[in-house]
Amino acid sequence: MKQEPIKRIVPVNRIILGITGGIAAYKAAEFARLLIKQGVEVQVVMTEAACHFITPATMQALTGRPVLVNQWDATPNGMAHIATSRAADAIVIAPASADFIAKLTHGLADDLLSTLCLARNCPLIVAPAMNREMWLNAATQRNVKQLVADGVQVLGPDSGVQACGEEGMGRMLEAAELARDVGRVLTRHSDSVGLKPDLRGQKIIITAGPTYEAIDAVRGITNRSSGKMGYAIAQAALELGAEVTLISGPTAQPKPQGAQCVDVQSAEQMFDAVKQHLSGCAIFIGVAAVADYRVAQPSVQKIKKSAAPLTLELVPNPDILAYVANLPNPPFCVGFAAESENLAEYAEAKRRAKKLPLLVGNLAQQAIGSDDNELILFDDSGRQTLPRADKLTLARQLMQRIAQRNQGVLK
Ligand code: C5P
Repeated sequence: MKQEPIKRIVPVNRIILGITGGIAAYKAAEFARLLIKQGVEVQVVMTEAACHFITPATMQALTGRPVLVNQWDATPNGMAHIATSRAADAIVIAPASADFIAKLTHGLADDLLSTLCLARNCPLIVAPAMNREMWLNAATQRNVKQLVADGVQVLGPDSGVQACGEEGMGRMLEAAELARDVGRVLTRHSDSVGLKPDLRGQKIIITAGPTYEAIDAVRGITNRSSGKMGYAIAQAALELGAEVTLISGPTAQPKPQGAQCVDVQSAEQMFDAVKQHLSGCAIFIGVAAVADYRVAQPSVQKIKKSAAPLTLELVPNPDILAYVANLPNPPFCVGFAAESENLAEYAEAKRRAKKLPLLVGNLAQQAIGSDDNELILFDDSGRQTLPRADKLTLARQLMQRIAQRNQGVLK
């Protein structure tokens, strides 16, 4: 199979991470780590106040780049505020303190970070973090409103218990939420300047997570699928503008914002939900680890323990993906195969048996429950590996290929 270069799903890949003075600065470390895992180049710029909360050495170690703090430091490439902002595809201020938001609103430029925000020619995203009274203060609210009117993207804040012990609005979004939302904002931006394939108006159904097959009122048969891969694919599809229906077994994953989420327990419930939502579906991606069998007659009451052996009769579950792929006019169907051995052989046999144009194989021992994975794509022309990366990065690469096929760019 010809190795098609996998274009980045988010062509925007150089971010200035601005850190201002606030206790939420510690979350910036994890946020930077997640961006880097997604292949983004991160240049950290900190205010003097931020250095009281987290050290430049920490951020330098995480990003592999010297951290910029002082506007008067000599730089090899001329004026730091111009050169640094020109090299960036976006500036993200996380955390953005009340003071820094006020500065941005009024166009002040009295340190390196505020100066390069003013000198930028790229999107600016801010993640406010402050005490709830500071957030609710009329001045802050006025400033935030003005920033939004000026085209700045404001992500959060969230409500909850604050570092000061008070409770209310003002907590910075968690690092994972920020990494996800920044990806979405940047995707929308690159979309508006016509840089990427898209799935706007396309209805996509994704099954995810494990299923749970009841044995009795309290016990059941399930598996160790975390749902991470399916949820990451839902997120990647949303970023391409698709209308996503995510039909999921029990997982602890946060719901992707913008998806229609349908929670189910058993394979039969998943099957019913899929049939109910199939109309108009252009792409079906079966990521769920559907139990192959269910208990023939689950007990309504808890089964009492006894000394006698207990035999459970298991009957096969419907194969949801095979059903969809064998409809007279099926959507483009993508399957997943987790195998513990002979991956290529089993995956290709599965693809043919279920009549799938595309099957994604992975090794169960590497994939289940972990944050990273390696995928092998099997289709009519052979196979292609998406090398080891975090699941959101892989999901974006996979959705990119699916979108290209959908647009007829790839066969
Ligand atoms: O046959 P196997 O379970 O290995 O196939 C895996 C693929 O089929 C996955 O895409 C999974 O979501 C789908 N599947 C299904 N319904 C089943 C079993 C598997 O949709 N009952």
